[in-house]
Amino acid sequence: MSRKTNIAIDGPAGAGKSTVAKMVAEQLTYLYIDTGAMYRALTYIALKHSIDPKNGKKLRELLDRVSIVLKPTTSGTSVFVNEDEVTEEIRSSEVTNTVSIVAGHEEVRKEMVKQQQTLAENGGTVMDGRDIGTFVLPKAEVKVFLTASVEERAKRRHEENIQKGYPSDYEKLKEEIARRDELDSNRKFAPLQKAADAVVIDSTHMTIPEVVDNILHLVEERF
Ligand code: DC
Repeated sequence: MSRKTNIAIDGPAGAGKSTVAKMVAEQLTYLYIDTGAMYRALTYIALKHSIDPKNGKKLRELLDRVSIVLKPTTSGTSVFVNEDEVTEEIRSSEVTNTVSIVAGHEEVRKEMVKQQQTLAENGGTVMDGRDIGTFVLPKAEVKVFLTASVEERAKRRHEENIQKGYPSDYEKLKEEIARRDELDSNRKFAPLQKAADAVVIDSTHMTIPEVVDNILHLVEERF
């Protein structure tokens, strides 16, 4: 492949986007960009400053005062707000359960999209999120919509939590995932939606390497 392209991977929470995107990026020596981490970082800092997650104007102002930086590491991405590392903190359940509200504000999304477009302007990225193929990189040469059943996604999160030694409740996870799907899919501005030219991959009965192979195949096909 001579030219470096951008690869957009969208889909609902827990479909395996970040794991898959990271592996695809590694195989192609591309940069992996986790856009969810950017919304999470803003949510974390807003909660820390007691800013109401429903107040889009205040959140937008906050975004001007902080810089959210994603640094690639061998195991994934480290996330910084100004100089402070927040990689672990942005995965807390408080952030997870608030981030959809923060990400629902048009003014917040417009600025995030701008920053994400700048990150991808030279190509060579695998970007995962909810609106990458539809809104952030509508011209991405490869677009994937990665999905899986709610039950399968909750099961994967549950197993991941147990493996990490975190407390976990499968039924609760299922409810939270369904609630986030609902919020992400029904927001007015840039909802979670499959781009018309995206390829749907349902990973319910697939292994991670199978999904990765599928995407690498699509990349090959396009070039
Ligand atoms: O992928 P994730 O679970 O880390 O994403 C966190 C939240 O951010 C999720 O509720 C949806 C939102 N999000 C978004 O609205 N647009 C994106 N491009 C990425 C994430």
